[in-house]
Amino acid sequence: MLIPSLIGAFEDDMKAMGMRLSAQDIYDVNNSSLKDAIMHFGGGCTAELVSGQGLMLTNHHCGYSQVQAHSSLENDYLKYGFWAKNKSEELKNPGLTASRIVRIEDVTASVFFGTEGLEGSAKLLKMKENTDQLIADAMTNNHFEADVKAFNYGNEFYMIVEETFLDVRLVGTPPNSIGKFGGDTDNWVWPRHTGDFSVFRIYSDVNNKPSEYSESNVPYTPLHFLPVSAKNRVPGEFTMVYGFPGTTEQHLTSGNLQYIMDIERPARIAMRDKSISVIDASMRSSDLIRIQYSSKQARIANGWKKWIGQLGGLKTVDALQIKLDREKAYNDMAATNEEWNKKYGSVIGEMNALVEKYKMADFGYVMFIEYQYVGPELFGRARTISKFLTEIGDLEKNGGLAEAKQAQIEGAKGFYKNYDEATDKQIFQLLTEEYINRLGKDNVPAILRSSSPEELANAIYSKSILTNQARFEKFMAKANSKSMAKLLKKDLGVKLWKETEETFVKTYLPGAQEFKGQMDQLLKTYVAGKLEMFPDEAQWPDANSTLRITYGKLEGSAPHDGMQYTEHTTLDGIITKNNSGNPDYELLPRMHELAKAKDYGDYAQDGELWVCFTGSNHTTGGNSGSPVIDADGNLLGLNFDRTWESTMSDYMFDSSRCRNITVDIRYVMWVMDRYAGAKHLVDEMTIVR
Ligand code: ARG
Ligand code: GLU
Repeated sequence: MLIPSLIGAFEDDMKAMGMRLSAQDIYDVNNSSLKDAIMHFGGGCTAELVSGQGLMLTNHHCGYSQVQAHSSLENDYLKYGFWAKNKSEELKNPGLTASRIVRIEDVTASVFFGTEGLEGSAKLLKMKENTDQLIADAMTNNHFEADVKAFNYGNEFYMIVEETFLDVRLVGTPPNSIGKFGGDTDNWVWPRHTGDFSVFRIYSDVNNKPSEYSESNVPYTPLHFLPVSAKNRVPGEFTMVYGFPGTTEQHLTSGNLQYIMDIERPARIAMRDKSISVIDASMRSSDLIRIQYSSKQARIANGWKKWIGQLGGLKTVDALQIKLDREKAYNDMAATNEEWNKKYGSVIGEMNALVEKYKMADFGYVMFIEYQYVGPELFGRARTISKFLTEIGDLEKNGGLAEAKQAQIEGAKGFYKNYDEATDKQIFQLLTEEYINRLGKDNVPAILRSSSPEELANAIYSKSILTNQARFEKFMAKANSKSMAKLLKKDLGVKLWKETEETFVKTYLPGAQEFKGQMDQLLKTYVAGKLEMFPDEAQWPDANSTLRITYGKLEGSAPHDGMQYTEHTTLDGIITKNNSGNPDYELLPRMHELAKAKDYGDYAQDGELWVCFTGSNHTTGGNSGSPVIDADGNLLGLNFDRTWESTMSDYMFDSSRCRNITVDIRYVMWVMDRYAGAKHLVDEMTIVR
């Protein structure tokens, strides 16, 4: 996960692995380079430009909420896909952005300028002053946004300057039976056959500058776009992934890892076991609920399954022992030198002690997130209206109440469109039970102990204004400061929300924040020690949602004794999986027709249509949609996942076992051309054969 502006240091190694590009081809500030084709999509995923007219590819699961928002029972784009026949049919997506990195600059010296001799808050203040000045300077006389980000826990700082585009339209998406083929059964798993892509287009004003949606906007002309490769793939060939990895935690201490493996992760998994079982059953029971909950379900299940894989992987390689061994080596090295010993000799012990001290606070924190933010949606409803509830008295006095109430009713419509009362009620009951069990009765607010989860569920879901649209609208129509006061006293849903929130703020939040703050300080020292005492070891800063490069090879893996994963899958495998009868492998008839006719267009290799392939590139969440690029800078496919055995790489990357999963661009083009009849999109790209 290398910083693009420093990629020059790796050029030789990359060339030795077969790359034919120069460091400047990959990252350059003065001339266009590969980086100009890489976009941060919606702030979470990665996307890449593939035509001179702003055509952009990302993963199906990255554009999923946009597709979902455009879908209804009449226009079921989730089930049947969507393809704009021409630019005028492309769909706008309010709020969706795509950002290009203008430049990345090491500003460590400037951030620390004038801090010599300062300590504590005086030092932080000076650093903040420096940072603000750097940002202000970078944003003068241009339309860019700048930010200064800490790397290696504050041992280094980099300024990131971005150009953010605001008019991003949906061009096409395959049906779920392609884009989400394999569903949760296959998620995080190899062998894989998912056509995980969707197609967008960036629009700009006539001067090629970002602009809010407008009919007068025109397709954006990129500084660079990626040609796509239809050449035969060769196992062992060089691959590189360019994108925005979110978070890795390679430096966790043994104590922290143990807490995560034994307490934190199993509890979060258990919470989601429950909500997923309810949502899955509801989605199977009705098409409406299937559409309403598809996006939420995917979000909840994704983390859940990754964590299960991580725990498995960490146990299999005995990550805890590896950590302990490394910690011993670190301490032994520190002991060889008095100065090192003073600076680094105690840091590991302090980190482990910190975990002991704060782990229950941290646990309360994450469980609250699972309960209130991932769990039943009545809590989210309460958060949404809470500001209005506190302002109602003022609005009454100063005017504006009627409009504010109408706005609440309108806003709620969007929420209730994707809400099923019976489903939420069951989630509430099961998660409340699990929450109490895991945290312990004494550690949850009194209201949760006042009656059984079932009784609470019955009481809330029959009376609260949070859980039912008609009740909500009725309340809103007449709402005033008096009815509000009554609501806070009588509405059990609102009361429960308030009490759990207050307990959280009082009991768990302060400790969890202390934990993180102090741990980051210790990590800064710990990492500084690694850099100083082990200068010959490969070092890279943990992912932090900034643009990074990772490289490796197109290759399979053998993570289990006696088992070998090949490096690619084919269309035949889709049909085989479909034959198993698992609903996650459902297909629309068109796929059968094309597969039977072996209609592969000119996208095949040796008579096979490749669907996905794996590589030894170190990726994580946020790398979804990232281009997987060949030795010459051509697009081989879109990164979208890791294998089950390798999800542990967020804590510990192991190049012999960790593999990223890519959907082959030739399959993407085949779907556009042969499956969807959208050959004009393929024609818009530059194909290298
Ligand atoms: N696991 C991939 C990622 O972390 C893909 C998730 C979407 N697919 C799914 N079946 N939920 O985002
Ligand atoms: N699917 C992930 C994402 O949304 C990428 C896969 C991973 O975590 O490796 O970013």
